[in-house]
Amino acid sequence: MVGQEQLFIPVILGSIREGRRSLHAASYLVSRVIAAGHASEVVDLKELGLPMYSEEEGEEQHAGVQALRSVLGRSDASVWLSPEYNHSFTGVIKNAIDHVDTELRRKPVAACGLSGAPHGGVRASEGLKVVLIEMHAVPIRDSVHFSEARHLFGADGELLKPEFERRVDLVVNELVWYARALKWGRNTIPVPERP
Ligand SMILES: Cc1cc2nc3c(=O)[nH]c(=O)nc-3n(C[C@H](O)[C@H](O)[C@H](O)COP(=O)(O)O)c2cc1C
Repeated sequence: MVGQEQLFIPVILGSIREGRRSLHAASYLVSRVIAAGHASEVVDLKELGLPMYSEEEGEEQHAGVQALRSVLGRSDASVWLSPEYNHSFTGVIKNAIDHVDTELRRKPVAACGLSGAPHGGVRASEGLKVVLIEMHAVPIRDSVHFSEARHLFGADGELLKPEFERRVDLVVNELVWYARALKWGRNTIPVPERP
């Protein structure tokens, strides 16, 4: 039986906007990962204050860049939550990914979206999956789309639509399955050589 040990699955919060609605959704995702018996935390790109990727001297030593790479390096899987901005995921998420090197390789990712619109967040999460593939990450099929976000959480972050819990737990369970399978694979199967 592949291990039953606790995994570390951080949630990357991809909005730095004043009054961002994604904060409650990210905290909720963290709470469901923990409820499933795993460790999690919000990785707040606002707090990290990453520089725009430029390869300027000293960029790799920036505390935020090091913190991001460290938390992803320690992770077994991750959840990336982005609001939909202009039919895509946010620029801060793309910039964060540009700072990442090998830390996501052969690890599963749940790309999740949020928006104020009824079908909101789908274009953000689907676009993000394409970018994650280039990182040799393994985006999973399922996502949580926090659409009509204004009506989803109360002022203190309480979930107003309890039916969302099932969807979030399904995604967490899928992610955990892939995390275990890929952790076993990384530790067991030689990675193919690349010319
Ligand atoms: C610059 C910008 C562009 C947006 N573009 C879209 C969009 O293309 N589709 C959509 O459904 N919502 C769009 N929205 C609405 C956001 O998804 C909504 O405001 C959401 O709450 C933003 O997440 P945040 O509050 O965590 O920043 C946009 C919002 C902003 C600020």
